[in-house]
Amino acid sequence: MQMGFKKGRIVEAVVTTYNEDAAPNAAPVGIYGIDEKTLVLKVHKESDTCANILRTKGCVINIVYDPLMFLRSALTARGEPEIRQADVEKAEKVDAPFLRDSNAYIEARVLGYRNYLKRDRYGESEVYVFKCGVLKIVILKAYPVGLNRGVAAAIELAIKLSRGDKKGLDEHIRIMRRTLSASEYREIASFLEQCR
Ligand SMILES: Cc1cc2nc3c(=O)[nH]c(=O)nc-3n(C[C@H](O)[C@H](O)[C@H](O)COP(=O)(O)O)c2cc1C
Repeated sequence: MQMGFKKGRIVEAVVTTYNEDAAPNAAPVGIYGIDEKTLVLKVHKESDTCANILRTKGCVINIVYDPLMFLRSALTARGEPEIRQADVEKAEKVDAPFLRDSNAYIEARVLGYRNYLKRDRYGESEVYVFKCGVLKIVILKAYPVGLNRGVAAAIELAIKLSRGDKKGLDEHIRIMRRTLSASEYREIASFLEQCR
């Protein structure tokens, strides 16, 4: 399967599903590669993504390097649309959409799941662990993408803000300003301004 999946590694991807009203939904989720055909997702019960996967027994895992997509899909409030119908297309083998702009996507079907209560410094939450089988892989953009610190900073910022942690945000913003293109940074700054 490649694409950065390796036993023991977590690949940060954007998982797309359909809400009950057929609106497309997107959320960053850490994906664990088990073997060539099996992936694991650990999803908080309180998310739309969890409800959607439980209902449809499938999802699409989008491999993206777009920093704004990580921020937007993590920080848009529950029930509000983070992506539009025009951003997606229906996948072939699962009842879920894929992001047209992703570099690659994986259609995955739930093989089984369990849930447990997670306790960490953010408190208690119920987590569903989905074991998923890979049904289809589509590469939309042929070339590999080089590392960029701004994308990594956007991911760290999205994680912090989605957990309500407001400490040390300036450093992530400084890295994005320095290492992303001016237009990418402008779009992100304006999105973050709207989130305040
Ligand atoms: C990089 C990144 C990785 C994340 N990984 C997970 C994860 O593995 N499981 C999870 O439940 N939430 C994860 N989150 C948080 C969810 O993406 C976030 O709660 C999101 O708003 C849920 O959206 P939804 O309600 O539309 O499903 C992650 C956030 C970021 C920024």
